[in-house]
Amino acid sequence: MNQRPPVIAVDGPSGVGKGTLCQWLATELGWRLLDSGALYRLTALATQRRNLPLTDESRVATVAAELNVEFTAGTDGGLRIALDGEEVSAAIRSEAAGNAASQVAALPQVRAALLQRQRNFRQFPGLIADGRDMGTVVFPDAELKLFLIADPGERARRRYTQLSEKNLSENKMNVSLAALEREIAERDARDVGRAAAPLTPATDAKILDTTYLSIAQVCEWARQQARPWR
Ligand code: C5P
Repeated sequence: MNQRPPVIAVDGPSGVGKGTLCQWLATELGWRLLDSGALYRLTALATQRRNLPLTDESRVATVAAELNVEFTAGTDGGLRIALDGEEVSAAIRSEAAGNAASQVAALPQVRAALLQRQRNFRQFPGLIADGRDMGTVVFPDAELKLFLIADPGERARRRYTQLSEKNLSENKMNVSLAALEREIAERDARDVGRAAAPLTPATDAKILDTTYLSIAQVCEWARQQARPWR
């Protein structure tokens, strides 16, 4: 009998469908969900709110260690995230917040400060861990490791559609597809090229290219991989 809660690690760059897949898997299996990217986004936001530079490694690491964050289930099934008691679920999803997150994520002391907090999410009946280094650093002993990839142009298009749907209701779409492509390329280069926990598949990860796949097809593939726990 295995006494340790099982983990399914899902890694890959942004725009490959990880977030949607992880929420689906967590609901399907009834497991907890760790959105590790949110922790880096929250660290960047909390740092900016304290008027500290994103490059000051030891102070950003202190902010990360002291993050006062609460994850609760939202009414739509998604996560509701509060920082210092204030709802920031939407604020941390902007492109600017993603870029700021990838800057603080390159700092080794910041990654170290968030490590145990992420491991604490491993609870019964199991955990779906969404990120960049779930299978390599945070849960190297994960029972299953999935790694999603997709063509950068397609990832930018998906992100553009997502942003335009969101912004249409607020009537303020102010980012171009070309700008998004540039930002994605920059963020990829930083995430892949950093010394601390670079974005790379674990040697035992199962890799899926989602460029030409629907969300339903990606979920079906993952469901097959997760067969032992269904
Ligand atoms: O996944 P998400 O887009 O929310 O992540 C934001 C940024 O946080 C990523 O671009 C990456 O730099 C960083 N990140 C990370 N390790 C993780 C999750 C996110 O470095 N496990």
